[in-house]
Amino acid sequence: MTRKVTKAIFPVAGLGTRFLPATKSIPKEILTLVDRPLIQYAIDEAREAGIKEFIFVTSRGKSALEDYFDDAPELERTLKKKGKQDLLNELQNTNMDSGAIAYVRQNRPQGLGHAVWCARRMLGTNESFAVILTDDVIAADKPCLQQMVEAHAETGGNVVAAMEVPHSKTSSYGILDIAEDMGSMVKVKGMVEKPDADKAPSNLAVIGRYILTPEVMKNLNKIKQGAGGEIQLTDAIAEEIVKGNPVYGFRFRGQRYDCGSKAGFLQATVAFGLQRPDLRDEFSAYLQDALSLQTAAE
Ligand code: UTP
Repeated sequence: MTRKVTKAIFPVAGLGTRFLPATKSIPKEILTLVDRPLIQYAIDEAREAGIKEFIFVTSRGKSALEDYFDDAPELERTLKKKGKQDLLNELQNTNMDSGAIAYVRQNRPQGLGHAVWCARRMLGTNESFAVILTDDVIAADKPCLQQMVEAHAETGGNVVAAMEVPHSKTSSYGILDIAEDMGSMVKVKGMVEKPDADKAPSNLAVIGRYILTPEVMKNLNKIKQGAGGEIQLTDAIAEEIVKGNPVYGFRFRGQRYDCGSKAGFLQATVAFGLQRPDLRDEFSAYLQDALSLQTAAE
């Protein structure tokens, strides 16, 4: 039996340049899909997967993110006084227990691998851990990380979320070289960072959910000492394959939105808006009107 995964790292120290000027003063993770910030979707998914400790790797300018998880007694008092119980419940669901969240700092954005490495002292020496990229929002009946935790309980090793992408898009992703395809799981024999379509070993791309063994952290430690530029998480995972340790790709069931890009964020906004019973009718009528107006104008 593999040990339960109870800690998750959330690397949120990136600059978020694709959302400038908004991200000049607002962390990207606070941008809202309908009425919830991106970080809330990630936290909810982690909680459902049994995560108990939430480790944020932050940087300068991210204090709004730290405040977001504190209790808001004044707001709570006001909502209680006004009898707005639904909103109060909604608000209280965002509070995190004291001590459940830890913040570590990444002084300079030296890459995703480096951000994960910054959290090394928060983990036990022999403990597998999850990594969640809040940019990737995944709508699923069973949350993606929960699916992965269940798969990992069977296989152990390293498990990365994977999804088929169009061949023309492989250069935007880490791509898996497949040794054995078992359906929802694939055994991986290599990982290539952002290959052109003609060099890509498959079209199975790594998405921002990982369950990693402590060895990956040790690899990051080594890479850190030798690296000049960005430190890639992919390299530290690929090293495990070279050592003969298992790395699996997991084809999750669900719809992933790339909320690190403007187009993906807009798509997610439309999809999540249409799913909300309180908004659906008005919003879909508006979308239909807007589309027919645009078609007429063309
Ligand atoms: P991205 O590659 O999306 O970079 O990072 P970014 O800075 O967030 O956004 P753009 O490209 O400038 O618009 C993927 C994830 O890794 C984190 C980011 O916060 C994001 O969640 N990250 C990246 C770090 O925490 N530190 C880094 O040095 C780099």
